[in-house]
Amino acid sequence: MKHWNILREDSGIVIATLDKAGESTNSLSAEVLAEFSEILTQLDLYPPKGLIIRSGKEAGFIAGADIQEFSQLDTADKGRALVARGWDLFKRLAAVPYPTLALVRGHCLGGGLELALACRYLLAVDEPGTKMGLPEVMLGIFPGWGGMLRLPQRVGPAAALDMMLSGKTIDARRAKKMGLADECVPPRVMEQAARQLVLSGQPRRALPVLQKLLNGPLKGIVASGARKQVAKKARPEHYPAPYAIIDIWQKHDGNALAAPELIDRIIRSPTARNLVRVFFLQERLKGFGKESTFRAQRVHVIGAGVMGGDIAAWCALRGMTVTLQDQSLERMAPALQRAHALFAKRLREPLKIRDAFDRLIPDVNGDGVAHADVVIEAIFEDVAAKHALFKALEPSLKPDAVLATNTSSLKLEDLRTVLQRPERLVGIHFFNPVAMMPLVEVVQAEGADPAAVQAACAFVRQIDKLPLPVKSTPGFLVNAVLAPYMLAAMRAVDEGLSPETVDEAMLAFGMPMGPIELTDTVGLDIAQAAGQKLAGGAAAPSCLLARLDAGHLGKKNGQGFYVWRDGKPVKNPANSVPAGLAERLIKPLIDRVEQLVADGVVADGDLADAGVIFGTGFAPFTGGPLNSRKQ
Ligand code: NAI
Repeated sequence: MKHWNILREDSGIVIATLDKAGESTNSLSAEVLAEFSEILTQLDLYPPKGLIIRSGKEAGFIAGADIQEFSQLDTADKGRALVARGWDLFKRLAAVPYPTLALVRGHCLGGGLELALACRYLLAVDEPGTKMGLPEVMLGIFPGWGGMLRLPQRVGPAAALDMMLSGKTIDARRAKKMGLADECVPPRVMEQAARQLVLSGQPRRALPVLQKLLNGPLKGIVASGARKQVAKKARPEHYPAPYAIIDIWQKHDGNALAAPELIDRIIRSPTARNLVRVFFLQERLKGFGKESTFRAQRVHVIGAGVMGGDIAAWCALRGMTVTLQDQSLERMAPALQRAHALFAKRLREPLKIRDAFDRLIPDVNGDGVAHADVVIEAIFEDVAAKHALFKALEPSLKPDAVLATNTSSLKLEDLRTVLQRPERLVGIHFFNPVAMMPLVEVVQAEGADPAAVQAACAFVRQIDKLPLPVKSTPGFLVNAVLAPYMLAAMRAVDEGLSPETVDEAMLAFGMPMGPIELTDTVGLDIAQAAGQKLAGGAAAPSCLLARLDAGHLGKKNGQGFYVWRDGKPVKNPANSVPAGLAERLIKPLIDRVEQLVADGVVADGDLADAGVIFGTGFAPFTGGPLNSRKQ
């Protein structure tokens, strides 16, 4: 066989190892499934004492279905055939007379988890890379190969729907706790544990009676709660898949083949097509910096303000040793407090939290510069201050260290004039809030050292962000396209529309936050300053100036376009949204994206779409601003 290795041990156990030819990760392509079907046929003839299914890849167990194949479904028949292929095969696997076990180490996602769920036992290997989930919803589709049937049976419907509707993954220990995994063992004993468990005859953990009822006669209660939860996050006209998942579970016992019209509506929907596009765009961003051999271990961040503090915390969270410099320890205290809150939220376990905190070292004297692989400047937005700093620190830098600025609005060409090696300065431009925003713009000034830019991209990947190379022009990509959009939104307020109505128009369009609320969040002073630089000399909107005159800065001082309470804007109900308003407000953004692509600020339209989606949250189901214009 091309993709599977079969080993029959003396004990009578058969070990089927998936090692997909020509790939570094396993995915369930048509060929892989056809071979697996062949294996089951063979085993029907010579039944083993037990079957263990495992992966031959370092990277993990199985990453899911083959998304390339999925993106090529051009007819309804092909969509249904794809669902049937996995559903029927895993049904067959679930019914074999001998015990079966999935040995899950590393990622086990989508179709991979559906395969594991069809085995009698799931043995999870406790190591950091092990994660299980059904993330289909993020591609605008549903887990149609048995996940919607078997996950609720295994862990109860509420927990199952939570996983299927959010796409989130869980680790080995959590899987054991929830009853998804039968056992959770360290890597060194996994082989032995798998053999023992598959032959153990041990019954599966039964679902508690209440859970059985909720997964049976009381499904309606769970379903209506889940629909309400989903409605808070996603509108059905934009994201139909989560609603379909609830329907298929509730009305068809998880079998999508019983609702062929839903299969066609979901699998070949524009949303699914666009979300798959976004997935591949994300993969493309992940590819930047791959050619570089640069690996950072130590990071030095200067400026422990809003940005620098959070950048330092993020790097420590991702395993870097970080020195954080500011003018005094007192100035660093708020950043350290925020870092602690971030570690507590993300790491949960006290030991890991302590380790992360140990990696974040306050460094008033800047001793860390000399040891750092990456130095990130995030001090006040002031050329003279940045000049003085660069001049002072350059002699201490390691020769191949990356020197980066987080500046939003200053020209790199101006900032680097004081350097002996000006070509080494790059922009590594994070977005606020750092922990939430996946994109980081890597800014390349005229004549910058390509190796430094590559190294910066590699570093951004190391800390698990998505690097987007951009040219050094005002606002780079993301701020440059937001400025005309926010201006158009404020002009609409000048024309007499309420902020709520303007925001509602864009929420209905699919933006994660309305543009007026965004202005309040960014700060009215910052919005005005950015507007001056990026709006091509257009007069500031009067609604903005009036509020600034009154000292209203937005979220940060509790009043802007909205009054802010407990970190949330107090909104009145929106009036009915005038026809065409959203299109009118978004047009300047899309026009600007086109212009920036034409100017070569980003390399091509796909990357621009990726940057705007991951840098602003631009409605992902549209596939990005340029893609939305084509449709
Ligand atoms: P901030 O005002 O919150 O923090 C700046 C910090 O730098 C202060 O704690 C200050 O004490 C410290 N500092 C100033 N001069 C210093 C020096 N010579 N040595 C050591 N520390 C010094 O500023 P914020 O908002 O964090 O901005 C920092 C940089 O990040 C700016 O270049 C800004 O353009 C950029 N940026 C800001 C974003 C935002 O949303 N605030 C977003 C992306 C980039």
